Amino acid sequence: MQSMTQRRVILWGEQIDNGNVRLPGRMMEGTGKASVKASGSCRLTQAVTAQRTFLWGTRSGTRYVQYKRNVLRKQRHWEKIVTAKKKKRKQEKERRKAKHAEDKGAAHQHSKRVLKAITKERLLAAKEAAPWLCVDLSMTSHMTKKEISRLAAQIRRLYGSNKKAGKPFWICLTGFVAGSPISEECFRMNDGFSNYLMDTTPESYLDLFPLETIVYLTPDSENALQDIDPHRVYVLGGLVDESIQKKLTLQKAQEHSLQTARLPIAEYMVKNANVKNYHSETLAINQVFDVLSTYYETQSWPEALKAGVPPGKGYVLQETAL
Ligand SMILES: C[S@@+](CC[C@H](N)C(=O)[O-])C[C@H]1O[C@@H](n2cnc3c(N)ncnc32)[C@H](O)[C@@H]1O
Repeated sequence: MQSMTQRRVILWGEQIDNGNVRLPGRMMEGTGKASVKASGSCRLTQAVTAQRTFLWGTRSGTRYVQYKRNVLRKQRHWEKIVTAKKKKRKQEKERRKAKHAEDKGAAHQHSKRVLKAITKERLLAAKEAAPWLCVDLSMTSHMTKKEISRLAAQIRRLYGSNKKAGKPFWICLTGFVAGSPISEECFRMNDGFSNYLMDTTPESYLDLFPLETIVYLTPDSENALQDIDPHRVYVLGGLVDESIQKKLTLQKAQEHSLQTARLPIAEYMVKNANVKNYHSETLAINQVFDVLSTYYETQSWPEALKAGVPPGKGYVLQETAL
């Protein structure tokens, strides 16, 4: 008499003798076992479990391998997509960067060209309407080689300030003789000197302008400069006197009965206490020019003096000045 459980097992397998059950051939593949010994309900349970394990193992194994393969394939595919996207993003970034640099370069070039044209226009307009500033280079025989070199550098700074000025002057180098030490030094030291927008002439300012229009600026004058008149010609002595040649320009101006003026330092500034107890109202030509140029633009002497008088000169603005 067979129990229900036994019958179910025999339905799946083939009973070969009492209690032995043969499992179907295709289910046996790979196990090497043709039968499972079954005795009573315990043997049957073992058989069923073995059979289920076998079935499950075989099917899920195949599926697992398949599943694993799919996962790997998808993973590889996804990695490819991610790498391609990264590459594309990088290329896009580089393209944008290059375009930005190109645009910036073009804008920069453009604004530089435009700025140059505006500066040129302003400087040339100054020749007609602005005050003239002459640097008198007729006294360079009084100077050492080193002083001449420093004077050439000061001319460069003066020209640079004028180019940047909101209201430029027209600049003229008088007594500028070709082949002279100062002319050679200007060409040697100052890049693009031959293109400076200014006049250079070997002639003297005395022969170029009516004498009554000339104001010789000298630190030794009794007169403080009050204002800047665009119809006047202001002359600076082209001198760097380390071994100070006192009153050289004052005497020269007086010989020709020219008007003279000094910067109004004493009117707006006070001596400050310093270790060396050094105070000097004598400035370099580019510093004098910075004062003149700032005044011409702002109409304020305190502002102008603040812009041009370096602290080393031992002067500070009066507290009430600004
Ligand atoms: C270094 S200074 C030469 C000073 C020289 N002892 C002289 O006799 O003129 C160069 C030039 O800058 C101008 N300068 C310097 N300080 C000045 C001031 N406080 N007021 C007016 N002009 C000044 C003068 O034209 C001067 O000739």
